[in-house]
Parts: sequence; C-alpha cells; structure tokens
Amino acid sequence: MGTERKRKVSLFDVVDETSVSAKLVKTNGVGPGAMMNNNNSLINRWNGKPYSQRYYEILEKRKSLPVWQQKEEFLQVLKANQVIILVGETGSGKTTQIPQFVLEGVDIETPDRRRKMMIACTQPRRVAAMSVSRRVAEEMDVTIGEEVGYSIRFEDCSSARTVLKYLTDGMLLREAMTDPLLERYKVIVLDEAHERTLATDVLFGLLKEVLKNRPDLKLVVMSATLEAEKFQGYFYGAPLMKVPGRLHPVEIFYTQDPERDYLEAAIRTVVQIHMCEPSGDILVFLTGEEEIEDACRKITKEITNMGDQVGPVKVVPLYSTLPPAMQQKIFEPAPPPSKEGGPPGRKIVVSTNIAETSLTIDGIVYVIDPGFAKQKVYNPRVRVESLLVSPISKASAHQRSGRAGRTQPGKCFRLYTEKSFNNDLQPQTYPEILRSNLANTVLTLKKLGIDDLVHFDFMDPPAPETLMRALEVLNYLGALDDDGNLTEMGEKMSEFPLDPQMSKMLVESPKYNCSNEILSISAMLSGCHQQLSCLGSMPLVGMHHRILIPNCFVRPREAQKAADEAKARFGHIDGDHLTLLNVYHAYKQNNEDPSWCYDNFVNHRALKSADNVRQQLVRIMARFNLKLCSNDFNSRDYYVNIRKAMLAGYFMQVAHLERTGQYLTVKDNQVVHLHPSNCLDHKPEWVIYNEYVLTSRNFIRTVTDVRGEWLIDIAPHYYDLSNFPQCEAKRVLERLYRKREKERENNRK
Ligand code: CDP
Ligand code: MG
Repeated sequence: MGTERKRKVSLFDVVDETSVSAKLVKTNGVGPGAMMNNNNSLINRWNGKPYSQRYYEILEKRKSLPVWQQKEEFLQVLKANQVIILVGETGSGKTTQIPQFVLEGVDIETPDRRRKMMIACTQPRRVAAMSVSRRVAEEMDVTIGEEVGYSIRFEDCSSARTVLKYLTDGMLLREAMTDPLLERYKVIVLDEAHERTLATDVLFGLLKEVLKNRPDLKLVVMSATLEAEKFQGYFYGAPLMKVPGRLHPVEIFYTQDPERDYLEAAIRTVVQIHMCEPSGDILVFLTGEEEIEDACRKITKEITNMGDQVGPVKVVPLYSTLPPAMQQKIFEPAPPPSKEGGPPGRKIVVSTNIAETSLTIDGIVYVIDPGFAKQKVYNPRVRVESLLVSPISKASAHQRSGRAGRTQPGKCFRLYTEKSFNNDLQPQTYPEILRSNLANTVLTLKKLGIDDLVHFDFMDPPAPETLMRALEVLNYLGALDDDGNLTEMGEKMSEFPLDPQMSKMLVESPKYNCSNEILSISAMLSGCHQQLSCLGSMPLVGMHHRILIPNCFVRPREAQKAADEAKARFGHIDGDHLTLLNVYHAYKQNNEDPSWCYDNFVNHRALKSADNVRQQLVRIMARFNLKLCSNDFNSRDYYVNIRKAMLAGYFMQVAHLERTGQYLTVKDNQVVHLHPSNCLDHKPEWVIYNEYVLTSRNFIRTVTDVRGEWLIDIAPHYYDLSNFPQCEAKRVLERLYRKREKERENNRK
C-alpha cells in the first residue's frame, strides 16, 4: 500500500456495511427440456440435436444461481395463479432463468399443433434484450433467432420457430396494436418492472384488461426492488415470491467534500483503485456515450503511461448504441498479469445505468458511483422534454453499490458526501410516465382502442395537464378529431414507430412529391440517434423537443480540422436536415463504402443503421399505398418542397428570429439559441428544429430555414392568430395574412 493509497482512503469515510450470506444450491439431474434418444444420449427437445459439451458446462453454473433453489415452488405458484410477482436481487438469475423455467412448466402447444405459442420477456433496454437473448440461446443450446429470439425497434431477430422472445416493452406494446389480446403468447414476463418505464406502465394497464379476457394467459412481473408490494396491490394481491439475495458485504465510501468535476473524480478513483487495491474488476457509472468514450480514452491513457508499475487493463464501454460485438466484450475476463508474479490485470467497465440492474457483470468488486444519470424531464407548460443529467435516487445508489458484492466482498466509492446522500437524493426515481411527453403514448392507447384515458388504470396517473397537452398536439397534427377520436390520419401515423411529428411528415410527404427524400431524412434522424429509454426504445426522434446527438459525423480529437472541413462539404446552407440528406445521398452514391465513410469522417455504423431504418419505413409506406416519389433534382423547387413537407409535420417546432437577434420559440416564447453545430450560413427569420436541448443555455439543434408564408399556408389551424400570445412573431404573421388576403383579392379581379 503506497502513499497514494493512504491519501485516497482519507478522502472517504467508511460508513455502511451490508451482509447477506451466500448460499449455494446443490444440484443434480439435467436441465430443462431434455429427452433421451435411441442411443441413450440426451437430445435437445427444441431442435432435436444432442446437447453440446458447452451446454453442460453452462448448466452447472446456472444451477448455482439463487432462482434455481425455488424452481419447483415457482412452477407450482405459476400453475395455481394467473399473475405472480417475483422479486430478487440483481444477478439472481431472474431474466435468464425464469423464462426457461416457464418453458419447462407450461404447455405451449396449440390445439392444431402447427405453431407453438410463445413466452415473451420484456426489457426496458434494447441492449439488455439483445444481450440476454443471446445468452439464453446459448444456455438452451439453440441458435439465436431460431427457438430463442429478440425483437427491438427496427430489428426483429425471431422466426416461426421462436418459443421464447425477449423484446423491449415498447415492442410488446406495438404488437398489441395488431394483436390486442396478445394471442400468440402463453405467458408474458414483464421484467425490470421497478424501472417503471413509460411502456411498462402502459403495459401494466393494458395487461390487466387482457388478462380478464384471456383466462389462459399468465403474467409474471419481475422486479429487483421491494417496491414490488405496489405491484401486488395493483394486481389484486397476486402472490409475491422473494428470491433471497446473494450479496457479499459492500463497504461504502463517501467523499468528504463535494466533487467539482465528477468525470475527473471518477477517472482519478479508477486509477487509484488500480494502483492500490487487490485484484477485482471495476464498474464506473457515467451518463452517456460521449462521456463514457471520453473516460475510456483517458483511463487507458493514464494507466498506459504508468508502465509496468501496474497491471494491464481492459477498459470496456457500455451504452445503448454500442454495436452487439462490442457489447459482448463486457463479459470477457480481465487480462492476465503482463509477467508472472506481476500486478494483476483488471477489467474496467464504464457504463450508463444499464449496468445498474439490466445487465449483471460477474467479477465486479469495485463500483464508482458519481451519483448522476441522464433522466427524462418534461415540462408540459412549455412542451419541452429533455434528457438531463440529474442526481440519481437513493434506491439507484443502493442498486449500484450492490453490483460490487456479487462474487466476493466489495467496495463502492460514492463521489458525493454522505450528507448529500441523506439530504439531497430522493428515495425513489419517479416513474417515467410522470416525466414524459405523452403524445406518442396517447396515440398508441387510442390505436389500442382505449378512448377514456382519464379512467385508464394507470399505476401512477400522469398529470392531467400532460394528457391535455398530448391530446392537443395530436389534434393539431390531425391524428385525433375534435372529439378525441382517432382519425384516418391518426391510424396511419400510429403505424410508424416514430414520434407523431415525424410520422405526420412522412404521411404528408407524397403531397409534396418528395417522400423519398423525407424517408431519407427521417431515417437519418432516427437511425443515427438511437437512444436510451423512451417507450423502451420504440418512438424516437424529435418527440417534442428531445435531446439527441446526431452522431453520423465523426470528429476525432487528432483530426478536428479535417473533420470539420469534411462536414462542411456536405453542408447545405438551408439547414441541417438537408445536410443529413446530402450525407445519405453521398453514402449511397459511393456504394455504402466503409472506407469512403472513413475518409469523409462519417460514421459508417450510423449510416448503415439509417439505411436499415429507411427500408423498414418504406415497407410501412407501402402498406398504406403512400407513393414513393421525388421531384426533379434540377428543379428549383426540389429543396423547397422538402422543407415544406418537413413543416407539415414539425409546424409546432418553429422558432422566430426577433429584432433583438434572439430566437423565440413560436407560441411558447422561450428564448433559444441555434446550436453551434448548425451549418446555416445565415440566421433565417423562421426555423424548424428537431430537438430542444436544455443546458445552461437553451439550444435548438438540427434546424432548417422555413418561410413565414408556408406557416400560414400549411398549418393555418395552428397559426390561427385569434389564440396567439402577443409577440413579434404574431405581428409578422398578421402582415403575412394581410398580404395573402390581398393576393387573393387581386386574383379574383
Ligand atoms: O435478471 P437477474 O439480474 O436476476 O440475473 P440474470 O440477468 O438472469 O443473470 C444471471 C447470471 O447470468 C449472471 O451471473 C450473469 O452474469 C449471467 N449472464 C451472462 O453471463 N451473460 C449474459 N449475457 C447475461 C447474463
Ligand atoms: Mg434481470
């Protein structure tokens, strides 16, 4: 232990110690679903093949998971009840094992024996759905996408043979739109219920109804925390099963003084642990992709600079947009010491709160918790929904520290003071439904046939003002009529897994003869900015003022100038949406070539994802006979029509340039600034914007120049000046209306 170590320890006070003794399960027998064949070797009932060696290896490990101790009890309770609540510490095997138990204990044959019924297991996060289903396919010794599959927005990896499907909660909700009684499922497992995502909350209410109409359907609600009693109350006192945790003691350390820069403090703590603490992997919680990548670079650099003094490290990022191959890296073991007897190697995982409860990484002994996460906030009054870096709750802090005690006693370093933990952190995180714009949710509910939103059985009802706002937005978009009924337009819009504004823009685009281009722009906006948890990953972009980072442009630290020049070559003076369109066109013209992307500082993965999204949107357009068309590229109106079509969807996201030189959002009159990333060469009088970014200053990002005349032509019902706040924009619009009036008179003459 060096001097560094002493200094470090004095920074923290030891405070809390929790201990639950470890219990191991004695196991024998074979796994679920095994049968003998003629040669007396076991064959897999799912694919008729003999089990591999690997299957038996994993099976041994699985049997030591806490849930296995209660397997029989679970199956009995499931048999006797329609709904069960199951609570268990993270890592006890709920997500991976319970659906397999269900498969073993429940008959999924259909009367005609043609296709089997399925078990669904929902996940709030797409990464978890992908990663867990892969693991379970391996455990069941089948190929992913065959008997075990997953389904996330824009990616369905399942087949007619699938019997167990992991899917985001948002996807299950979408499935309910075409299959209201969810008839293809025999059992639905709502996992991570404690997260209380918007989609899970809606599913609660929906499933409660479905269960009444489908006595044969069963529901398992799984949760990591004890808030589960609330679920019990909601589901008429359904039985609650507790899986005893298996947590080793975790020592909690707090900082003595508040940290000014949590990122810097986190990196410093990682380095100190690596230098001074015995072997064991480290898990660091940060808030988002950019920050995580930055931290990974800095940690690697600092530790590399220390040379042989310290052991080798493997630094791995984990966030929602990470490609699958990279996601697997978090499960790889720590590197061995560089030389025999040398200091131990370590794995350092730097993650968003995905690693809080959704994914369990074995071998973590040290947790660093700066106390922040990106969380959705919504202000219905000014219709701003944003992802903000904000303090986590006590419940979250507790979950995070628990990650350190999975396999042996561990330590958790909280980068805030104990006083701050006690006084500043809320006990629980508010359910997402209380922090969200509900336009999309309301559209989904309407499509599901739920008309009476006020009496819908929400576990926590949203604020009436938020519901009103949502209804109002959908009415302006023409998705609901004045009585709140779904219109034909609304029917179409609800089929797109996008925000209502974007769906509207797509549905309207053929009228402007530019649906091809609008498809490309929509795909670029959605495909390039997949993000955390909004309806569990279903709706996405531009949902009224949301933060999203367009990461189709790459800007490496060592080549910023070249990257900026490359971006400028794609730049369209009328706006960022058109710039995105240019990038997409150039990508296609260059045959989707990865090396072209590399040379032009464009993120190939983002473009590929956009292209995939585009193909799926094309299919939805085809279903409604929405024609695919383009104006002549050389026509003067080529870009004008595209901008008009965008306005047809986004007319409620417009800002006006005041004489003061400031932009004000129209109607809400919020002062906003053009985000510095914009590529305009001028300050247009009117702009539409895709995102409203809340920081110390309010930015609007991804903006395009539009004309005042178009506002009153395309959305006169919204630009009805009789209900408009007094402002400069109103006076300008008044003049435009008068001008239009005169033109009309002249035409009549
Ligand atoms: O859902 P819960 O947190 O209760 O546990 P789980 O996700 O089912 O994890 C059970 C075990 O499976 C843990 O030891 C994980 O490390 C392991 N697992 C894995 O090795 N690879 C995955 N992709 C997912 C889980
Ligand atoms: Mg789980």
